Amino acid sequence: MKSDWRVERRAQLAHAPFLQACRKEKSSHTPVWLMRQAGRYQAKYREIRAKYSMLELCQHPEEVTRVTLLPIEQFGMDAAILFSDITIPYLGMNIDFDIVPGVGPVIESPLKDEADVGRLEKFCSKEQLSFVGEAIQLLTRELKVPLIGFAGAPFTMAAYLIEGKPSKDFKNVRKFLFQQPDAWHTLMSYLTDITIDYLKMQVDAGVDALQVFDSWVGALHPRTYEEYLLPHMSRLFTALGSTGVPLIHFGTGTASLLSLMRRAGGDVIGIDWRTPLRESWDALGRECAVQGNFDPAVLFADTTRIQQEADRVLKEIGGEPGHIFNLGHGVLPGTPEDHVRFLVEYVQETTAGA
Ligand code: CP3
Repeated sequence: MKSDWRVERRAQLAHAPFLQACRKEKSSHTPVWLMRQAGRYQAKYREIRAKYSMLELCQHPEEVTRVTLLPIEQFGMDAAILFSDITIPYLGMNIDFDIVPGVGPVIESPLKDEADVGRLEKFCSKEQLSFVGEAIQLLTRELKVPLIGFAGAPFTMAAYLIEGKPSKDFKNVRKFLFQQPDAWHTLMSYLTDITIDYLKMQVDAGVDALQVFDSWVGALHPRTYEEYLLPHMSRLFTALGSTGVPLIHFGTGTASLLSLMRRAGGDVIGIDWRTPLRESWDALGRECAVQGNFDPAVLFADTTRIQQEADRVLKEIGGEPGHIFNLGHGVLPGTPEDHVRFLVEYVQETTAGA
């Protein structure tokens, strides 16, 4: 039975522009979705969110389904991303934490050494995080566009566990990895195992693509990435390759890291707003697809300026297949909803039949 609906959904989505672009195939228009497309900039989101804390909301499959669908219903993006947070696997690890509005994830007792790492619990995502699979099953019954599942990359997950809260320069993580390399590699191996298990569970439940968010990896020198992250990231992407769904690999501040990220893996590499798109794609060798990289701050300007920035992104790509239009990072709170609608429609209309 399980494989029946999967075959049916694959057939239904065979010509989905988002999946075609992930495979570098020509599509009817340039697909567009936005990181953080469901969130505080939406009045309807704020209404639902008023009833729950962020962590409660993420554990409520019916509400997760409603929130994930909001931007698709309102603005017609070409893909949906599961509404959740990268911190959700911490629930399975028995980490005491909260997501503080306006701040981000805050960990009660940050990790200091090998003994702390040894106390982290292994868990089975299917059992402890079953609410995620339930939301995915509900969503794939309703959604007509592909659903993206996601997780934080091991470095970004480790960054919160060690810093205890968001950080500008991640100096505690950098100190930790140089000072205690064995503990670091134990932690990265553990987080890689958890992330593989968690993302495979999402594919089993029905997601059509996966995005790995290494949001804070830009804090590192390429040599540090190569020695302390690359073996784990390669193992992660190799293991996920067996799922058969497209893999998107995203980070910010990554201009000097893109070729290493490409070596680690991913069918699509996400480019942040600081980094020239065409140059990046050339440097990546053009064998992968790219996603990005409209500056989210431009959505606060008038529609003429928004159009100019969208044209800039599209011109850099030059109509070549293998581009997923997105922001260079998430939609910022306070972004006018009309401007999001304008951008999505503009990209879909100007690239149709081009
Ligand atoms: O993109 C989407 O629409 C899907 C939902 C999503 C959220 N978080 C919802 C969320 C995704 C993909 C994430 C991933 C996530 N979470 C990342 C990686 C992506 C990125 O932005 O780089 C990171 C670093 C986090 C950690 C995190 N969680 C932060 C920094 C914050 C914001 C804190 C704040 O209040 O400014 C959160 C909370 C969070 N996650 C919100 C949302 C919509 C805000 C929740 C609220 O207060 O209502």
